[in-house]
Order: sequence, then structure tokens, then C-alpha cells
Amino acid sequence: MSTQDLNEDTITSAVLARARRAKSARFKKVIGSLVRHLHDFAREVELTEEEWAYGIDFLTRTGQKCDDKRQEFILLSDTLGLSTLLTQLNHRSHGDETEQTVWGPFHRLKTPRFRLGSNISEGVRGAPCFVNITVRDSAGKPVKGATVDVWHSDDDGFYDVQHQEWNGAMRMRGVFKPDTDGRVWFRTILPTAYPVPTDGPVGELLKASARHPMRPAHMHFLIEAPGYDRLVTHVFNNGDKYLDSDAVFGVRKSLVRTYPKHKPGIAPDGTRMTKPYHTLDFDFVMRPAKRATKRATKRAAKKRSTKPRKSAS
Ligand code: BEZ
Ligand code: FE
Repeated sequence: MSTQDLNEDTITSAVLARARRAKSARFKKVIGSLVRHLHDFAREVELTEEEWAYGIDFLTRTGQKCDDKRQEFILLSDTLGLSTLLTQLNHRSHGDETEQTVWGPFHRLKTPRFRLGSNISEGVRGAPCFVNITVRDSAGKPVKGATVDVWHSDDDGFYDVQHQEWNGAMRMRGVFKPDTDGRVWFRTILPTAYPVPTDGPVGELLKASARHPMRPAHMHFLIEAPGYDRLVTHVFNNGDKYLDSDAVFGVRKSLVRTYPKHKPGIAPDGTRMTKPYHTLDFDFVMRPAKRATKRATKRAAKKRSTKPRKSAS
């Protein structure tokens, strides 16, 4: 196909034709769709050269804002709803399996392991909160070999990594192994709502869209177990004023729970509390690891049957 007489409509098929010899069918599908949508977008809004230049500069600055602690591109994906769309496409929940939601940038590797019943927020100011969860399969059986990684914000809406004066100390986070009934319990403080970082291009986008940057209060859970899909989720605090307008579209109704407030008295771990405290109960239901799709299984079976057999000797 000659590309010397292209016009604003034929340019799209000319670009697609250039990739026709690409080896990977999946690559061709993804890049083809991307080009089609990109061109349709430019045609639909009649993109001006100034707007194109602004977009290039925006993406350049987004990249420049990234380092080993800050990922502005993921934040962009989060605030545009792309991360949540991806979660929905890749982790469809069935029945009572716990829904997944965004991972977020505040998870840390090498979080210390705690004994059941520990306080993961020792010395941190905030309303005490006693958490009691279970990790089971959809038949109600405790999931064997599970690891529960939890992290959350403090009373001022900051994660430990945002407290520079803490010099990297890990607080309001911990890793637990459930007991033989699939139960995990620990003490911490009540998390509060907080803004996503707004000092970069994403902040600029939110402002231009007249959107607030807030996320409703939540606790993060990352639960892994052999033979099960990794579960990345939150439990949100019912009654939070941002539940319906989460900046990253991460709230699912099934993940909202009341963190009830109790009068001073004996806490679930037997501690005599002289001030009010909260509790949180949640039952996580893990989903068995993805089985091969019917089509993939058929394809694999066909391959096996057409593979030349080694002759028996
Ligand atoms: C978080 O929940 O920690 C989070 C998720 C997405 C963007 C920013 C923060
Ligand atoms: Fe968070």
C-alpha cells in the first residue's frame, strides 16, 4: 500500500498495515487496537497541535516524577480508573470470593512478621483498633499456608514512608500467618482518609477536572497462599464521606465494613482499655488459582495429539 496519498481517514489502516508481519498475534491485536483508538480519539476531538504538545509535555513530566519510591504513571492509571478496570478484567469474583481492588504505592517489601495478637502500631498516636479476620475458601475451610500482609495510614492520613522523621521505620504494617482455623488477629490504630499525592502532573489533572484527591479510610490486605489467586484488597470504613468519590475508584460495596466504636472496657485481646476503641471483623474468601481456560486446554490437547511421538524402542 502506497502511503503517498494518505488522508485523515486512511492513515489508520496504513499504520496498521505496517505491523502486519509482526510475529506475535497478541502484539498485533494490542498495538492495532491502540492505534485505532488513538487515531479515533484525535479525530473525535480534532486535537490541536498545542493540545498534542501539552499531552507530550504532561507525559514527559509524569515520567520525570517517577523514581524508586514514586510511580506517577501508576497513579495516573489509578486516577483515570484504568487500574480498577484492569482489576475487574483480571480478577472477576464468583459467589462469595472477596473482591480485589487497587494495590497502591505504599506496600513495602520485607515488612516484619508479627505474632498473632501483636500491636503493629506500638507508640503511634490514634484510636486503638482490634482487627479479627479469617482466611478461608468458598467452602468455609481455612486456607493452608496463607500469609497476610496488612498496611494502612495513620490518624493524620499518612503512611509510615511519608514520615521522613521516622527514618524508614515500619509502622502500621505487618505480616501474619493465620492459625489452624484461618484466623488472624492484631491490634493497630484506626486508619483515616487521605489524599493521593498531588504535587505532580496527576495533581494538575485532578485540579483541571475539578476533582478532589481523597481516598476513604481503609486497611490494605495482601493475602497469598499456594494454590490460590493472590488477593489484593482493602477493607473500607463504613460512613467515610469519600466512599462514593474515591479518587482511584477502588471502593467496592462488598469491601465496606463498620469499624464499631466501643466504650472503655475489656478489649477482644483481654486488655483493659481506659479509652474508647474500635474493632474490625472481616472474613476473606480466597479464589482457587486460575485454571486454564477451556480454549487453552483444548489448544494444549490438540498440540499434544499432533506432536510426533518418540518411537518406542
Ligand atoms: C493507596 O490506597 O494506598 C493508594 C492507592 C492508589 C493511589 C494512591 C494510594
Ligand atoms: Fe491506601
